[in-house]
Formats: sequence, C-alpha cells, structure tokens
Amino acid sequence: MTALVDPFQRAIRYLRVSVTDRCDFRCAYCMSENMTFLPKADLLSLEELDRMCSTFVELGVEKLRITGGEPLVRKGIMTFFHAMSRHLQTGALKELTVTTNGSQLGRYAQELAACGVRRINVSLDTLDPKKFAEITRWGRLPQVLEGIVAAKAAGLRVKINTVALKGFNEDELFSLLDWCAREDHDLTFIEVMPMGDMGGTDRLEQYWPLRDLRARLAERFTLTDLAERTGGPARYVRLEETGQKIGFITPLTHNFCESCNRVRLTCTGELYMCLGQEDVADLRAPLRASADNMALEQAIRAAIARKPKGHDFDYSRQKITGQMTRHMSHTGG
Ligand code: GTP
Ligand code: 5AD
Ligand code: SF4
Repeated sequence: MTALVDPFQRAIRYLRVSVTDRCDFRCAYCMSENMTFLPKADLLSLEELDRMCSTFVELGVEKLRITGGEPLVRKGIMTFFHAMSRHLQTGALKELTVTTNGSQLGRYAQELAACGVRRINVSLDTLDPKKFAEITRWGRLPQVLEGIVAAKAAGLRVKINTVALKGFNEDELFSLLDWCAREDHDLTFIEVMPMGDMGGTDRLEQYWPLRDLRARLAERFTLTDLAERTGGPARYVRLEETGQKIGFITPLTHNFCESCNRVRLTCTGELYMCLGQEDVADLRAPLRASADNMALEQAIRAAIARKPKGHDFDYSRQKITGQMTRHMSHTGG
C-alpha cells in the first residue's frame, strides 16, 4: 500500500478527527454566543467514524488526534476510543490522543489511559476563575482543574494549550509558566487565528503576536531554541534557568506549512486538506456507497492530491487576510 503523499512531497501521517461540533463552553475567540449546531442526524455514526479512521490508518496515518467541539461530550465516545486502541495494539497507530477543554476528564481520564492514550492537550487560557468564566462564557475553572488532576492521576501527560490574547492573559504569562512548572505540565502558546465570524469581535484587538510574548520571556530567562518536534505545529524553546520547555504555535508570525503532515476530518465526514483553506472533499458519500473501502480509499487519495501549499492568514499592516467564515470547532483546530 503506497502511503499518502501530497503534491508538495509531504507525507500525511496525522489525522485530526472532529467527532462533534458541539461544546459545553463558548470560548469567545472560538464560537459566537448563539451558535447553530449541526443536526445530530448529519453526524457520522461511531461505526462510520471507526471505518473512516481505520482506512486512514491502513493508508499510513500513524497519529490520530480526536477533537471537536469538545470531543468528550459526544455520546458513546469511549466506544470509539476503545475501537481505535486496537490499531495501537497492532502497532499500525503510534499515537492516539485528544484535545479537550478538560471539563469531562474527571469522568473519562482513567478510561482514556486504558485505551492507550498517553498524552492529552487541554485548552486553558487563564488561571483566574472570573476570567475563565468570562472567556469560556459557560465554563467553570474548578471543574477543569479537577479534570487535569484526574488526568495526571491516571498517568496521562498533560500539555496545556493557551491562546495568547492581548489584554486578556498578557498579565498571566509568568503565573501560567509557574503553575505548569509546579504541576509538571507542558505548555504551548497559540496565536489567535481568524476563524469564524465572531459577531463583531475584532481579531486584531485580540491578537498578541508570539514574538512579543517571546520577547517578554527573554527579559527574564535565557531561551534556547530546540530542534525537537512532536509531529504537531509547535516549535519549542527551553528556559535555561528552570529547564522548562515551552511550545509556540505561530501560524501568523512564523508559518509552518512547509512541514505540514496532517488533514482534518469533520464529524460529517468532510475532509479539509488545510485548516486555513475552504477546499473540502466529501468522504461520507463514498463511505456509504459501498461496504468495501475501495471508493473511500480512492476519494481520500484524490483529496490528498489537492492539498494546498498552505494557509493565507495574515494580520500585516493592521489588516486581516485569509479570514475563514468556518468556525474552529467545525474542523477541531
Ligand atoms: P501536538 O503537537 O501533538 O501536541 O498537538 P497539536 O499542536 O498538533 O494539536 P492541538 O490540538 O493541541 O492544536 C493546538 C493548536 O494548533 C490549535 O489552535 C490548532 O488549531 C493549531 N494547529 C494544529 N495544526 C495546525 C495546522 O496545520 N495549521 C494551523 N494553522 N494551525 C494548526
Ligand atoms: N485561534 C487559535 N486557536 C484557537 N483555538 C480555538 N479557536 C482558536 C483560534 N481562533 C484553540 C483552542 C484549542 C485548540 C484546539 O484550538 O483553544 O486549544
Ligand atoms: Fe469549546 Fe474548545 Fe471552542 Fe472553547 S475553544 S468553545 S472549549 S471547542
């Protein structure tokens, strides 16, 4: 079986799977307050998700990241994790993981670990309960912190994802850093991307470039750039004084598209070849057309052959370009 390789000779080994567009939070940079969600009948069933992902694994995908919306609010989701764990057991899949807001970890952390999940990414933008309630609109910080404790107790490695937001968490840079050091969590900062219509929210007003954040860090620490990658878009630095490793995801100030290794499957069976482009391939029709996977496989190969070079996000000269109308929750980040 020949692996999936795109027109720019990038091998596709990483599939991000959004299992639901719903979420129990409404983060201000991710969703508008009155989101319309897909009718449940449009979603792929758990069995269809299994067939879809298993086909990608047969085609050489080695890393599956389950996302949403909030993946752990999808009914029966653990059945799907158990199903995917069989690919870990055969060795075809190297990593099964999840990006979550942490709200359901208290309930599911143990079972995730039992399915072979080893590290998880938890989105957390502030350690202040009031600010947390403000940014997530519907979230409660203690529930998430308890979830993170449960994840550690289950033996999961935790990476905290913090979206860098001007005027919101600039003042928490060092407290977040200290907390992650104390709790032994990895920490990655993300530049806010212009995804979705936020009903008047000005992206430029939210945007805190990570080169500025890095400069703030450099006032207090000696930074060493590290060569290592985790198969994701983050670049890492080490703070020499503490040994702490910090990740930066910088689609705007430092595009990483040349080494892109991933595509995204939505909960309705569409394949997005790039987070920052509209082009999409329908995989649900070929999946449903036949019980064998020939048509599906062909559709996947045809889609990968159209993978674009990269996104067009840009905030230069105080103007946003590359803005997507699609919300981040649709493709799972
Ligand atoms: P690991 O490196 O495995 O820890 O994960 P990851 O960074 O790939 O995944 P995660 O779900 O934690 O995503 C973190 C952020 O990176 C999210 O805001 C994603 O939208 C963003 N991201 C992931 N892949 C891409 C990509 O291909 N392009 C862009 N522009 N952003 C991406
Ligand atoms: N820009 C950058 N990151 C975002 N996320 C959600 N919306 C955006 C955005 N517009 C992040 C979440 C989560 C990850 C999947 O994507 O905080 O960590
Ligand atoms: Fe939900 Fe994550 Fe979007 Fe927040 S960023 S609303 S937690 S999907």
